[in-house]
Amino acid sequence: MRVAILTSEAMPFAKTGGLADVSGALPKALIEQGADAKLILPLYEQVDRELLNGGSVENVRVEWRGQVHHVRFWYSDAAGAPTYLLEAHEFFSRPAIYGHNDDHIRFAFFSRAALALLKHLRFQPDVVHGNDWPCGFAMAELRARRRYEAFFQNTRSLFSLHNVGYQGFFDAGDLWWLGFGDPPENDDFRLDRNASALKAGIIAADALSTVSPRYAYEIQTPEQGHGLDWLLRSRRDRLAGITNGVDYDIWNPETDPHIAANFSADDLSGKRECKLDLLRRFGLPEDPNRPIIAMISRLVGQKGYDLIRQLPQQILETGSFFIALGAGAKEYEDFLQRWHDAAPRQVGIYKGFAGEPLPHQIEAGADMFLMPSLYEPCGLNQMYSMRYGTVPIVRATGGLDDTVQHFDPADGTGTGFKFGPYDAGALLDKIREALYFYARPEHWRKIQHNGMLVDNSWAAAAKKYLELYQELIKL
Ligand code: ADP
Ligand code: GLC
Repeated sequence: MRVAILTSEAMPFAKTGGLADVSGALPKALIEQGADAKLILPLYEQVDRELLNGGSVENVRVEWRGQVHHVRFWYSDAAGAPTYLLEAHEFFSRPAIYGHNDDHIRFAFFSRAALALLKHLRFQPDVVHGNDWPCGFAMAELRARRRYEAFFQNTRSLFSLHNVGYQGFFDAGDLWWLGFGDPPENDDFRLDRNASALKAGIIAADALSTVSPRYAYEIQTPEQGHGLDWLLRSRRDRLAGITNGVDYDIWNPETDPHIAANFSADDLSGKRECKLDLLRRFGLPEDPNRPIIAMISRLVGQKGYDLIRQLPQQILETGSFFIALGAGAKEYEDFLQRWHDAAPRQVGIYKGFAGEPLPHQIEAGADMFLMPSLYEPCGLNQMYSMRYGTVPIVRATGGLDDTVQHFDPADGTGTGFKFGPYDAGALLDKIREALYFYARPEHWRKIQHNGMLVDNSWAAAAKKYLELYQELIKL
């Protein structure tokens, strides 16, 4: 099975969120299952050049806007899989990965160049696996080129939807010179008088997947479909939900080099040291008996800060510490700053995108991890938390609902706490419920233990992707 995975971000090269964790882990997991997988992404300014450890592929011929470009791809095996990073200074040597008004042009170029690389390498993939709207262009282009290019005739496509809230909108007037001027591509891109790369990808791909079964269902409803539920319903026979895995080579408290002390389900003593270390890092009093509630997330509406900012006083009154790591919208950063300024001995914040160690130190040192998301396609931190004995408190939506089981004191089952309505009162009730059990160590140990023993490794997810690829090549 030859698979080319296209992505706009992947660990350890470039990251803004969970897509990078997933793209960095899946190719390696597929190779472990016997597939021949290659990963392709842009070479951004922020990629550590030391990772480019295998030379480059030169002179890859890319036809673009009536001209021929010759581009270079750098090679790396730092993700445990052959990885090719597209050098194109004009498009990718910029401080931020997204948020430029020519993003559609940047990723359309990336898609074209990625397909050109496959030809250059004579790597005829069985499946091209694209991720999120930046790869919608590749899905559309592949389907079009299959009509006249023998090389891609037998190549099938899978489009993975990690977040339907980001649709890659741009001016439909640009379609023709991006190479999508003719039907059916032109129509496939059009949405609400604009063009959407996500929509085109959803129509053009041979099959679709999302990152949890629950989210696969939710995006077919008007409440969660972000205006595309009708389209997703029309493709539901080709839409699968596969829950993301966890890369336990990276997220494992027994071996994690970033944390103050290692620990395991059998011996949690090191976690106390991690907690004291975390309190110190955030300048909080070193009181190991008070619980730490933590959050790590992009600061966007999706992540539930609208609920938290209704509760600053109530959360402080529980006596807990609150530690937040986040980057994003100014309104939420300002809220965190004000909250910290009002209670500097209880609220610790880090505004910005932190390098590797800090998220690990928070996962290891916290007692509870909060994810009150408005929606959550999968979510990774709740799974990381469980492995680190940090109990998740989540809203029952998307992958959070699929991966966290509510604690039941009657039979000692469950890995965390879940609330249903998107409502500050419901969140506060759950925090209080969690704190009630925190104060009863025999219960708390059990919840921690249950979570630490859950196996969310990538092997199971990779097998499901392989089955999906197998079905695709029979089409
Ligand atoms: P999403 O992809 O929607 O952002 P996920 O839960 O899937 O959510 O993944 C988020 C990933 O990004 C996790 O690995 C998390 O640790 C990391 N992360 C989020 N915000 C930050 C930040 N400010 N600094 C460092 N890492 C972050
Ligand atoms: C998206 C989603 C998140 C998911 C991640 C990786 O960014 O918001 O829920 O875990 O992709 O699939």
